[in-house]
Amino acid sequence: MNFESRVALITGAGSEGGIGREIARQLSKKGAEVILSDINEDGLQTGIREIEDLGGIAHSITMDVTNKKSVQQGVKEITENLGKIDILVNNAGVSRPTNVTEISEDEWDLVFNVNMKGVFFLTQAVLPYMEEKNYGRIVNLGSVSGKRGGGIFGGSHYSAAKAGVTGFTKAVAREAAKYQITCNSVAPGLVGGTEITSGLLTDEKKKAIQNDIPLGRVGKVEDIAYSIAFLVSEEAGYITGEELDINGGSHID
Ligand SMILES: NC(=O)c1ccc[n+]([C@@H]2O[C@H](COP(=O)([O-])OP(=O)(O)OC[C@H]3O[C@@H](n4cnc5c(N)ncnc54)[C@H](O)[C@@H]3O)[C@@H](O)[C@H]2O)c1
Repeated sequence: MNFESRVALITGAGSEGGIGREIARQLSKKGAEVILSDINEDGLQTGIREIEDLGGIAHSITMDVTNKKSVQQGVKEITENLGKIDILVNNAGVSRPTNVTEISEDEWDLVFNVNMKGVFFLTQAVLPYMEEKNYGRIVNLGSVSGKRGGGIFGGSHYSAAKAGVTGFTKAVAREAAKYQITCNSVAPGLVGGTEITSGLLTDEKKKAIQNDIPLGRVGKVEDIAYSIAFLVSEEAGYITGEELDINGGSHID
């Protein structure tokens, strides 16, 4: 896989130990010019320095995926400066481990806005530029929670939003195919060490979870990033509307 001359925008890449940052590292290592975006400005600066230290080309853009104006401005700025966006990874996400009877309307809206509406805003803003070039790769972050119902660290709002991402991905895949744009999603199982899971994943809990994973360990950010790198590569050009499970066998359908 070679991403030279490709421009990749990754949302939620500010979190140091997060999946988004690892996607940026992997794509950059293979030659892509990467744009890290997040609401965490300090995290973005650290991310850029890290990628530049590894010899890559990185830019940052502060963008709140729940804010249409912020997204449209951010995407406009990128395309004005770099001419295009070849790859979009909708990775920004939040989760709350709240029982359905306890979820407030504000919490429901937050979880839906970041995980679902943000994917819509980014896709809507980036697609016209991809269509213009007759090329594009989009990957959205779903979750095993959206498939089996109930996450380990996510409530029903998180499951519902991630299931929504799956349906949205399939519909966009059909619409965008005539421009040679592919749109897929990935559904990770539990990934350790990220902001979403840190703190909540005690050693005891980790042991219990691992016992339920046929491959015997929780996921690493690299497991997710390698699969996404494949889905956004030239080589995956005939795969669209697909959801890839990356969960060590914890959910097989
Ligand atoms: N960690 C897991 O076990 C797991 C499992 C399945 C799916 N996922 C999904 O993977 C993605 C990445 O999660 P992670 O585990 O790396 O978590 P993370 O918390 O480390 O990273 C998420 C990033 O999203 C950013 N973000 C939050 N709200 C935002 C907003 N409004 N605008 C822009 N950025 C915003 C955060 O600042 C953070 O940098 C998420 O979509 C998550 O739902 C994670």
